[in-house]
Formats: sequence, structure tokens, C-alpha cells
Amino acid sequence: MLTARENLEKKLQSVAYLPTMPQVLLQVERALKQEKTAAGRIASIVREDPALTTSILRVANSVIYRGKLSSRISSIPQAVARLGFTEVRRICMTSALIRAFEDYGHGINHAEFWKHSVTVATATRIFQKYTDKPGLLQTDEMEDAFVAGLLHDVGILAMDQFFPDLLAEVRSYAESEIIPLARAENEILGIHHGEVGGMLLANWNLPDRVVEAVTWHHDPDRAGKTNRLVTQMVHLADFICVNQSIGQTLEGLYDGFSEGAWYDLGLSVDEVPQMLDDLKEEAERSEVVGGTA
Ligand SMILES: [Fe+2]
Ligand SMILES: [Fe+2]
Repeated sequence: MLTARENLEKKLQSVAYLPTMPQVLLQVERALKQEKTAAGRIASIVREDPALTTSILRVANSVIYRGKLSSRISSIPQAVARLGFTEVRRICMTSALIRAFEDYGHGINHAEFWKHSVTVATATRIFQKYTDKPGLLQTDEMEDAFVAGLLHDVGILAMDQFFPDLLAEVRSYAESEIIPLARAENEILGIHHGEVGGMLLANWNLPDRVVEAVTWHHDPDRAGKTNRLVTQMVHLADFICVNQSIGQTLEGLYDGFSEGAWYDLGLSVDEVPQMLDDLKEEAERSEVVGGTA
């Protein structure tokens, strides 16, 4: 007889319906990789997608991005100029992924799920500011940390999709025993949502760094050496958001804090209060980006 873990692995390998990588995301990614991408090129891709157009204009016109004094804008090229390519890429990524998983899962509150995910993704920026090891991560590693932050708990959605009863059992066990969700999953299923999410994203051919960071976000010391810093960053962002109750969380409690991550990322305990202030500000920003504000 198959164990719950084997059963889940088998199911994930054989399912016909997995969300596909959204086309608009592929086009934006491709355009941004070309050296001389003009705002007009991005604008023409985005304009094809009404929901994305709305998201970008909403973010560009939010007080947090335009300040109190600058004027409202109504065109995508102006929005791209105000926000910059990196921010536009993040908004495209966030909006497209939320839609890709729209029909995924049964019992999970999607608004809460994405609020937590977007907050963790946004929080990965903080460490870059406070590290005493400047230049520790390259730009593409930072971008992968953002994507991994966004997708780190996607395994919970997958379990809710394929094994809703088992997930419900695991969640109520975690609640009654007052233990973290990932530990309850391990005890009952022999696998946790990080591994499930990693399997799912490997199917999307996302970079190994993203897959590994998602897989080991609760246990970053298990990530391979080349991908460990990004994994540690997602782990710490998740840990702090859950423990400080910044954004919503489905995970309840968190254990297995990696002290190694703290030191490897060059962070100092003295700066924790400022980091938390920044995190709360980033959480507000992420509510705007995730469309939850
Ligand atoms: Fe998690
Ligand atoms: Fe999480």
C-alpha cells in the first residue's frame, strides 16, 4: 500500500490539470530580457490584458507610489515611467500568478493566502537594505527571491486541490496540538507543503533556485549551497511575517528558525526594530500590489 507521501507524489505527477505559466508573463519576461526594452513595448503587451492594465494603473496611482502631491496618471507608458521596469515586472508576476491559481483549491481563503504570499515576497527586499554584506546577492537572485516568496506556500493550495480532506485533517491537528502546519503535515503525510510546492513548480520549469527556495523555506539549511542564500531569505521573510502577524497566515505557528540564515545574510540583532518598521511599511505596499487594499 502506498504511503500518503507516495500517493501525493503520484497524484501530482499524473494530474492533467496544472495551472500553466500565464502567457502575458512569458511575454513580459521576454521583453524585459531584451537589452533595449522601451516602456512602449511593455505597454503594448500589458494593454492586451485589461486586468493587468487595471492593476498597474491602480498601483501607480496609489498614495504609496505617487506620494500625496503628484498627479494621477491614466496611461500605461506613464505608469511604467513612474514605477520602473522592476516594479512593473513584480506587478505582472503577482497579478498573473494570482489569476493562474484562481480555480485551485477548495477550502482555502484565497484573499488571505495571497495577502501572506505577497507580504513575504515584498519582505525579501528588506534584507538587502540591512545586510552588512552589500552585494551579497545579484539582481537576478533578488528577483528569484521575490518570486519564491510569492510562491512559497503554493503547496498548500495544491494539497487543498487534490487532498482537501487530508489537508483539513492536518490543519485541525495542527490547531489542536498547537504545532506548526508544516510539522503536522510531516507527521500525518510524511511530506510538507514546501516539498509539494517545489514539485509543482518544477513542472513549470521555474529556475532551480526558485524551486529549491520554495521546497526548503521551512528548513533552509537543507538547500544546496548555490541556492541557499535565496532560500534563507524566503525563510526569514516568512518567519518574521508569521511571528509578527504581518499579513495573514494559514500556517499558525512557525518553528525551526534558522540562526545560520540570520548570520549568512549579514543581519544584526540591533537593527531588528528598524527592520520591523520597514516591514510594516512594505506590508502596506504589498497590499496595494496584491490588490488586497
Ligand atoms: Fe510555508
Ligand atoms: Fe508562509
